[in-house]
This record gives sequence, structure tokens and C-alpha cells, in this order.
Amino acid sequence: MTVRLATIEDMEGVKALLRKYHRDTISDEDRPDGFVTTAITDEQLADLIEKEKGVTIIAEPVEGEPDRVLGFCFAAPWEFWTAWPLFRHMIDIIPDYEFEGKRLVVSDSYQYGPMCVDRSIRGTGAFEALFFASLEQFRDRFPLMLTFVNQINKRSENAHNNKAHMETIGTFDFGDNHYFLMGIRTDAADKYKNGGF
Ligand SMILES: CC(C)(COP(=O)(O)OP(=O)(O)OC[C@H]1O[C@@H](n2cnc3c(N)ncnc32)[C@H](O)[C@@H]1OP(=O)(O)O)[C@@H](O)C(=O)NCCC(=O)NCCS
Repeated sequence: MTVRLATIEDMEGVKALLRKYHRDTISDEDRPDGFVTTAITDEQLADLIEKEKGVTIIAEPVEGEPDRVLGFCFAAPWEFWTAWPLFRHMIDIIPDYEFEGKRLVVSDSYQYGPMCVDRSIRGTGAFEALFFASLEQFRDRFPLMLTFVNQINKRSENAHNNKAHMETIGTFDFGDNHYFLMGIRTDAADKYKNGGF
């Protein structure tokens, strides 16, 4: 298995994994371990892969076929995310919060997520490998990464707190959902990358 940036050839694999763990299509068996809520069009996903270089994946080679995608995480500057109401709301409220004693500045940060790891490789270090590879991609462009975690997604909250070493900056509500706002300095990638996977 390799952790690498996705190319356009990986698009179907990313979409298949997203379908498997998206709130609208996930199985009842998988639902308690968390689900992805962000929907993305083919055009947006192609832009995220090619223009933003913002899709990092865990890929398993399959003889004579495209690699199987067993994990993905998305990341991009805030401008990319303005098509989504939740992210527009986050852009509005970010300056209300502080991180490491300083008021947050939208242009100093980018947004990571959603993140998804296939059940077959959860708890193996795959999450950390994917997380820090993505952080590394943006390390030279932004000092800070920000994300949201739905407060009902306890597995994701634990992974982001304990495995990714993210800090909970605050909480916010959007629609009927309650979220944590989390952040991490991108130079943390130097300290934790490859996480033993
Ligand atoms: C969230 C996700 C990426 C985390 O990756 P992972 O490989 O499952 O993470 P890990 O197993 O390494 O870490 C999760 C931690 O939460 C714990 N945990 C597992 N199930 C849990 C639950 N139902 N409630 C609380 N904690 C839970 C695990 O035990 C583990 O902690 P530990 O290693 O200290 O025991 C993965 O579970 C996933 O893709 N879920 C579906 C999609 C999703 O929810 N994405 C996030 C929102 S965008």
C-alpha cells in the first residue's frame, strides 16, 4: 500500500469509497463508526485532484486494474470550499476564535476534510499516515490547518485528538449539527509524518 497524491485515474476509486461511507449511502453496520457528510460533484472532485493537488489517498495495487483506494483525505484553501454553505459559515466565524494565544486569520489557514479510511485498515496507522501526508502537502503554503468534526462522530473526534494531535479550538453549530473546530500547525508534519504505517 502506498500513500500518495491522487491523480485523475483515482477518481472512480475515491468516489466508490466516498459512496461507501457517505451519510446518504452508508450501511447500517458501518454507520456507528462515523460517516462523511460532505457531497462533491465530479467537476469539483476533478478540480480538487488536479488544480488544488488536494486529494491524498492510500492506494493498493491491483494487477491489471487501477489501484484500489482504501483511504482518502481532501484539503484545499478556503476559496475552494466557498461553494459549500458550511464552509462559508466557517470562514465567517474563524476570526472569532484564538489558537495558541493568537486570533485566527482565514488567509493563514486552509481546510482539511473529509477524511475516510476503509474499515479493513482502520486502527492500523493508516489514518495517521494519510493525515500527516496531507499536512505535509500544505506545509509550505500555510502555517495552520483547520477542520470541523461533528460532535456525534466520536471515532473521528478520538482519531483527530489522539492520533492526529489536533487541538480543539472551540465549538460551533450549523443547521441542526454541533461541531468542534480543530486546528494544528502544519509543521507538526515534520514531527509525526509516516506514523509507523
Ligand atoms: C474517522 C476515521 C478516518 C478514523 O480512522 P480510524 O482508522 O478508524 O482511526 P483509529 O482506529 O486509528 O482511531 C480511532 C480511535 O477511536 C476509537 N473508537 C473506535 N470506535 C469508537 C466509537 N464508536 N466511539 C468512540 N471512539 C471510538 C478507537 O478505539 C481509536 O482509539 P484507540 O486507538 O485509542 O483505541 C475512520 O474511522 C473513518 O473513515 N470513518 C468513516 C468516515 C468518517 O467518519 N470520517 C470522518 C468525518 S469526515
